[in-house]
Amino acid sequence: MTEIEKLKEQLHQQQKMASIGMLTAGIAHEIQNPLNFVINFSKMSGKLLSDLMSIIEDSIDRLEKEDAEEMQEIAEDLKENLKKIEEHGERAIDIIRSILMQSRGKEGEFLPTNVANLVHEYVWLSYHAMRASNKDFNISITEKYEEQMPQMMVIPQDFSRAVLNLMNNACYTVEERSALGQEGYMPTINVDVHREGEELVVSIADNGMGMTQEVQNGLYEAFFTTKPIGKGTGLGMPITREIVQERHGGQLSFTSKEGEGTTFTIRIPIRLK
Ligand SMILES: Nc1ncnc2c1ncn2[C@@H]1O[C@H](COP(=O)(O)OP(=O)(O)OP(=O)(O)O)[C@@H](O)[C@H]1O
Ligand SMILES: [Mg+2]
Repeated sequence: MTEIEKLKEQLHQQQKMASIGMLTAGIAHEIQNPLNFVINFSKMSGKLLSDLMSIIEDSIDRLEKEDAEEMQEIAEDLKENLKKIEEHGERAIDIIRSILMQSRGKEGEFLPTNVANLVHEYVWLSYHAMRASNKDFNISITEKYEEQMPQMMVIPQDFSRAVLNLMNNACYTVEERSALGQEGYMPTINVDVHREGEELVVSIADNGMGMTQEVQNGLYEAFFTTKPIGKGTGLGMPITREIVQERHGGQLSFTSKEGEGTTFTIRIPIRLK
């Protein structure tokens, strides 16, 4: 028994390292550099443009009125565009910073977290990971986040892992159903984050294959998987449940209907500090 527990823990660690460590930290870190170049060159171009504009100002009386006006208009547009590049670049940097922070947090540490942002980031991380292996496949993802939620105490590393696990399963199942070629089938995943009284509620609903009673019964067993070798280890759900119930003192529940889809719901008591 202890041997099995030890192996389970090892696999747990490995799975965490493989996905979170590699996917997030690695990619985020690599993207940071080129992104900084984008932002810095955009800033530099803005300065050059200002210089150019003042040269034009100085020699404005030597230009045709029409030409001068057009030049100024173009320069204004360029300035706006550069501002947008900078703005969106900064936003991307912010996202990367928060991902890096989440994957760096100490093991098991509760940190004040913008849960909506965290869920959003991992929803799309999962989506893009899936797209990387099947780039022709598309999913309609809708997200609903309660506005102005305060920062909440969660273990960001673990919480993001739970979201990623549920999203990976949802992406997989809609892809699986899509492969059946049913007419008019539109792979859809709905994500919803809101508060209910003293609880934070995160639900991920897919219109995938749904689960048979047998799968529902085995769902939380370690190594239970219906996926081919190499596609699943059968650890996603037990880990997710552990994260939600043991580590955050919450509840993980689901409703599922064969041929229609599955909704997983995470409920954890809200801790503000
Ligand atoms: N949203 C879902 N829709 C349909 N079946 C699901 C869904 N989520 C989980 N399952 C079923 O439960 C099984 C166990 O899920 P779990 O996430 O624990 O393992 P896995 O996805 O097979 O492998 P991994 O360890 O890579 O997550 C899956 O193989 C699948 O059959
Ligand atoms: Mg899984």
